[in-house]
Amino acid sequence: MGTGIAQTIAQHGMPVMLSDVDLARAEAGKAAIEKALVKLVGRGKIEADAAETLLTKVTPIGDYEPMSEASLIIEAATEQEAIKQAIFERAGKVLASDAIMASNTSSIPITRMANYSPDPARFIGLHFFNPVPVMGLIEVIPGLATSKDTTDQITAFAEGLGKEVVLSQDEPGFVVNRILLPMINEAVFVLGQSTAGIEDIDKGCRLGLNHPMGPLQLADFVGLDTCLDIIKVLYKTTRDTKYRPAPLLVKYVEAGWLGRKTGRGFYDYSGEAPVPTR
Ligand code: 3HC
Repeated sequence: MGTGIAQTIAQHGMPVMLSDVDLARAEAGKAAIEKALVKLVGRGKIEADAAETLLTKVTPIGDYEPMSEASLIIEAATEQEAIKQAIFERAGKVLASDAIMASNTSSIPITRMANYSPDPARFIGLHFFNPVPVMGLIEVIPGLATSKDTTDQITAFAEGLGKEVVLSQDEPGFVVNRILLPMINEAVFVLGQSTAGIEDIDKGCRLGLNHPMGPLQLADFVGLDTCLDIIKVLYKTTRDTKYRPAPLLVKYVEAGWLGRKTGRGFYDYSGEAPVPTR
């Protein structure tokens, strides 16, 4: 998701540093942006010159030092709190005195994570949706200690990326994932109970609800591990059994079938078109 965020920021004329576990991975991130742009140029969606200019604005980095120049650091790591904590602590050492730190977490409490940063007043949730360059929404989530000035600056930043903003209180799943994940989880229960097959569940939601993707296809797109992480956070933080993870979702994750990124989830992506696996 970090590459989509970096692409979107660069597309709006701002310089952006792209960081990952090491420089090679950050460079691979920039290469992924280039690949997406080549496709867009080929389809006449963007001029070759504009794509080249955009790419010059993205600088891969291999350590935290250069982030001292940033006015905003956006963390978009995997949905594991310990990993995020390590990032906030390291980035916090170089965070400029007037800079803001934001997390693209999909469900971990902002108020709690703010304590991993040097100044909770300058810490906020900034939740993007995949694919970032295409989706029109950003959720802005102030924690208990987030200052109004930080919220205002981040809202203006999000709107400057051409997105609509929904302001959410710091409650589990915020607004959209709180609604989306129970739907995805329920679709897996429906599959697990053999009420219908993968294709029919997705077809039902595509044609019956006018969703662009069915819930199982969307789960593969988001990543089944990410879906499980989010539903687990909802379950653990609310203790409401309506959020209990579907056993079949747990099994798929345990099998390492995580969706598009591993080539197999509810669909098999090894061929030209996705094929349902059940
Ligand atoms: N940069 C800029 N534009 C891009 C792009 C990129 N990297 N990739 C694609 N696009 C553009 C295409 O050019 C195309 O533009 P057009 O409509 O003007 O022709 C448009 O995006 C759609 O692309 P495609 O034609 O390739 O693909 P589809 O029409 O099949 O749409 C989809 C793909 C947008 C992914 C659509 O299926 C969709 O909206 N799916 C649902 C996505 C969704 O629900 N996302 C949210 C997930 S939840 C989340 O992210 C939160 C997290 O916390 C879990």
